[in-house]
Amino acid sequence: MIIDSIISLPGDKSISHRSIMLASIANGVSHITNLNDGKDLESTIRAMQLCGVSIEKDDDTIIVKGCLLKNPTEPIDCGNSGTTSRLLTGLLSSQHLSFSLIGDESLSKRPMNRVIAPLAEMGCTITSNDGLLPIHIDASSGLEKINYQMPIASAQVKSAILLAGLGSEDTCTVKELRHSRDHTEIMLESMGADIMIDGDNIEINPLSSSLKSFVMNIPADPSSAAFFIALAVLLKGSSLTVENILLNPTRTGFIDVLEKMGVQGLVSNQSINNGESCGNIQFIGSDIQSCNIPAEMIPSIIDEIPILAVIAAFAKGKTVFHEVEELRFKESDRLHAIVKNLQLFGINAYEEGNSLVVEGGRPTKMAKILSFDDHRIAMAFIILSLVSFEDYDIDDTACIDISLPGFFNILKDIQR
Ligand code: S3P
Repeated sequence: MIIDSIISLPGDKSISHRSIMLASIANGVSHITNLNDGKDLESTIRAMQLCGVSIEKDDDTIIVKGCLLKNPTEPIDCGNSGTTSRLLTGLLSSQHLSFSLIGDESLSKRPMNRVIAPLAEMGCTITSNDGLLPIHIDASSGLEKINYQMPIASAQVKSAILLAGLGSEDTCTVKELRHSRDHTEIMLESMGADIMIDGDNIEINPLSSSLKSFVMNIPADPSSAAFFIALAVLLKGSSLTVENILLNPTRTGFIDVLEKMGVQGLVSNQSINNGESCGNIQFIGSDIQSCNIPAEMIPSIIDEIPILAVIAAFAKGKTVFHEVEELRFKESDRLHAIVKNLQLFGINAYEEGNSLVVEGGRPTKMAKILSFDDHRIAMAFIILSLVSFEDYDIDDTACIDISLPGFFNILKDIQR
């Protein structure tokens, strides 16, 4: 199999969530194109509609009419989406609402304490199922300021606090443990919020006037692109170009790790779009070297570790991903899911404390992939199996619709 293709992909999922949420409280009408088309975004759109926001589709454009949000009359179902649930806690609290959040089986097992603790400190009254969903938040008596030192590296938690800060009585600050994706900061700044960023310290002032509405074409999601890029770099003689991909440095750790592995991405046509860097990137099939991935890099590759572990399976030598314990709290326990699937394919992979070790070589046997109902696990191991055996077998593929419903069509297209 050889790939020689140029592709465009649906918009970045993180930016898509933020665009819908922030357009919902902006003054005026926002127009968004290339919104991520996965099920997680449907959860965010439905949530904002339940709070009274008009969100409509006209051809390829999503039109969001900002308004004063109202209390939802029923619990908001966040489905499988951690970003929807965590960011909504902050956004809806900033509007001094009273609301409940629920989610599917997977989301109902994921920790909400990480947002409950700071929001309770800001004065919200919160009840939860012992730190898990369902959660009820009452922010109707307003929010006090907070100076928060993040105990974990999480863009969702940071964003929840910054969004809550928009409706607090005074200046709030957040100090990051490690620099995580900064789309909330970028979007807030471009919409006119009073936000200051100094290294890992962020300061946000309560809104004195409404945020400005915007027009945005969302750049391609690098976390989705990573699967097709992996296929191209693992197949000698292949070339793949992804057009208009998000190149925000908090999200390009995947490209930096590939570089450590001896694979160069060629960037062209770089530009800035609503504060976000984007451009085209080309990869060609290459030999893969093993490498050491330090803890500081983990936030910038957090969603790409499943596919990077797959690439490491084809490297010469041992690749170590240091301090990846956050993987245990994703759509599945991804640390376990990665190790289990690599072992099924005959790769020596294991957990060492909180680190992930992959001893590269080549998969030795075809196996049935266990998706663990996790979109990124399913896609990563379909790529591994295709590269090794030009075929795959998997327990379930429905979960792929969470972030990339077009996955199989794109796969078919690029293999022509
Ligand atoms: C996201 C942040 C990350 C990431 C998730 C999207 C975001 O989660 O894994 O897919 O949009 O803010 P954490 O904040 O839990 O690291």
